[in-house]
Amino acid sequence: MKEFKEIAEWIEARGAVHEIPRVESLPQPGFRMDGADHVSFSTNNYLGLSSHPRMIAAARTGLERYGVGNCESRLLGGDLDIYDQLEQKLAAMKGKDTALLFATGYLTNLGVLSSLVKAGQFARIYGYRARNRHSYAFFTDEYNHVSIREGIRLSGADRLTYRHLDLDHLDSLLAGSSATSKVIVTDGVFSQDGDIAPLPDLLAVAERHDAMVYVDDAHGTGVLGASGGGITEHFGLHDERLICMGTLSKAYGAIGGFVATDRHIGELLRLTCSAYGFTSTLPPDQVYAVSEAIDIVADEPARRQRLWDNQRYFVAAMRDLPYRLVSTTTPIVPVLIGDEARTDHLSALLREAGLHVDSVKFPAVARNQGRLRVILNAGHTRAQIDRLVGVFRDNQDRFLAAA
Ligand SMILES: Cc1ncc(COP(=O)(O)O)c(C=O)c1O
Repeated sequence: MKEFKEIAEWIEARGAVHEIPRVESLPQPGFRMDGADHVSFSTNNYLGLSSHPRMIAAARTGLERYGVGNCESRLLGGDLDIYDQLEQKLAAMKGKDTALLFATGYLTNLGVLSSLVKAGQFARIYGYRARNRHSYAFFTDEYNHVSIREGIRLSGADRLTYRHLDLDHLDSLLAGSSATSKVIVTDGVFSQDGDIAPLPDLLAVAERHDAMVYVDDAHGTGVLGASGGGITEHFGLHDERLICMGTLSKAYGAIGGFVATDRHIGELLRLTCSAYGFTSTLPPDQVYAVSEAIDIVADEPARRQRLWDNQRYFVAAMRDLPYRLVSTTTPIVPVLIGDEARTDHLSALLREAGLHVDSVKFPAVARNQGRLRVILNAGHTRAQIDRLVGVFRDNQDRFLAAA
């Protein structure tokens, strides 16, 4: 017991405990915090759907028809017809044969990546003997989300980490691997840097090494592509090597995760993935809400248009200032500050001005790579964005990132 107290006190003494703001309402993007009104430049509710009247009405219908929760797991009596309907809708959106729903996006990565390698093991229970021995290896971008790292760790398979977006490095790791099944794993949009994985190039590398590509489209689904279909639509890709993962908790404004795959992988995952079959999944109101969200994204393209207009407006204004923007291709536009203390200081000044921007620091990013991770939203007004840029402008001499 003693070591927990000792470690907790040691960490606290070094100021490593991040202060987490407690909020009194959800960002739309305006919200209440510490008894005052603030504007969030950090919410993943990109399109403002979490409070959309159609979403609330749909959730209410689900609640009234089915009750508050599903007290069974999918494999033991809890396999509601509405799960199947939503899975078909998600699969169609991603251009895949089938999809599987999970309680959260985090659980999707944990469950799918850890059980992809277990198909043969499962079949052996029934007497299957592979002609050649299978061995698996994951090739993972160093900046991938923590749930990816954890999922791969749980799989017990080899993990080879390539430098961020460095396809030559990836290529050499693939060439040096003797695994019979190779899976490249990447975020679609990287959550701390906001850049987009070059999926067509990754698929070309995968083709050369007969690998699969697993893409986590948490921040792309509903946001990227002509109709919000995500990273595959953005690049116009349909490829049997692709496994597409997404969350329902960001642009879709609800909660849950999914993976869209070809028929065989989907069938095997339904058998082998305990995070899919052996836990209670989405409550019915969330299933109704997500299904409605997919329709709203299609029916109301003006929301995505506003999101991208706001993104361009902010990037253009920031380009007149001497800050370094980590990337400028998605609604996540991190402003590099560098030193952790200065990052926190500027974040506090923004908060005093009623603007909430996440201060992202080590260990979420490398040391001295502190940044204010601005996330644009369809609901931001030009006046709100001007206020944010104004605080950056007023403080530029004090907080400029070291080059
Ligand atoms: C890239 C990425 N993958 C997965 C997740 C987990 O999603 P969820 O919050 O739905 O569990 C996140 C959440 O921040 C994310 O940014």
